[in-house]
Amino acid sequence: MSTQSELQQTIEDMVDDHRGILAADESHPTIAKRFKAINVESTEENRRVWRSLLLTTPGLGDYISGTILFEETLGQKGEEGTLLPQVAWKQKIVPGIKVDKDTAPLSGAPGDLITRGLDGLGEQLQGYKTQGARFAKWREVYPIARHNPTPLGRQANAEMLARYAAICQELGVVPIVEPEVLMECEHDIGRCAEVTEQVLHAVFHALHQHHVSLEHMILKPNMVLPGKACRRAEPDEVAAATLRVLRRTVPAAVPSINFLSGGQDDEEATANLNSINQLGGNAPWQLSISYGRALQQPALRTWIGKTENSAAAQQALLKRARLNSLARTGEYDPSME
Ligand code: 13P
Repeated sequence: MSTQSELQQTIEDMVDDHRGILAADESHPTIAKRFKAINVESTEENRRVWRSLLLTTPGLGDYISGTILFEETLGQKGEEGTLLPQVAWKQKIVPGIKVDKDTAPLSGAPGDLITRGLDGLGEQLQGYKTQGARFAKWREVYPIARHNPTPLGRQANAEMLARYAAICQELGVVPIVEPEVLMECEHDIGRCAEVTEQVLHAVFHALHQHHVSLEHMILKPNMVLPGKACRRAEPDEVAAATLRVLRRTVPAAVPSINFLSGGQDDEEATANLNSINQLGGNAPWQLSISYGRALQQPALRTWIGKTENSAAAQQALLKRARLNSLARTGEYDPSME
């Protein structure tokens, strides 16, 4: 298959009008933090058990079309001895891989960050592909402060995302491009809108310069939200602000926009997605999810590391996946919780 047909097939397998992406790609320090909250030690075996529980959830493929995995998971097996990427694909969930490494301060732009991991990416991707990964994810993070992100920060981060996306497409791997404007700050929703618009503008400019095929990528942005220290915004306010920014910056050629949850609680993330789809029904792109915490948290709290809770934890995951699927068509209501 040519790389072009591989990219096209992966987009077709991942993008539809009712399913979303499950992010299960926490790095070792992040999964350790999530496990610590439920008193589970982050051992390789516990991570395998947890991720195998997620991917073997009966019926998950009805609502989830792709899953982002961490490197270690590609080589791990479920209880029946099947490799986890194959376990996912049995349910028509396309396996993908997080390829960005850690973030570091961006020299010359105090307060801005830059993500590492571009060196040797091509060779690594070829290996991941043989393990079943058909798409990849790279995240750049943008903390908001009075003078951040700086113009240099926006440009450097956009350049990284575009270089990564171009490498992926050259190898027939669909890139998820994730510029995340953080909500862990004190800004109001207007400031988040201003920064997100500038960030996305820079990202699409860089993608264009690097000849990235917009038809064969997925955008994973933040919703436009007030910082955590501010009052929560109502879903219709979030939806209006988010759609205004996306319409100004994201070309119609992009097939799907899959939001990250970014620290919103699970019900809030579903309600916001629902409003976005109610208001954005005529938008040129699919408006979907690529949630990590907002899909996994209720299941994790149910599981707490105990085998006897596995089925209940899977039901908790399935419930969030189903409600978010309803939110894709604006048919979710909080009374369904
Ligand atoms: P959250 O939905 O928990 O923000 O995670 C999504 C993700 O993949 C962050 O890179």
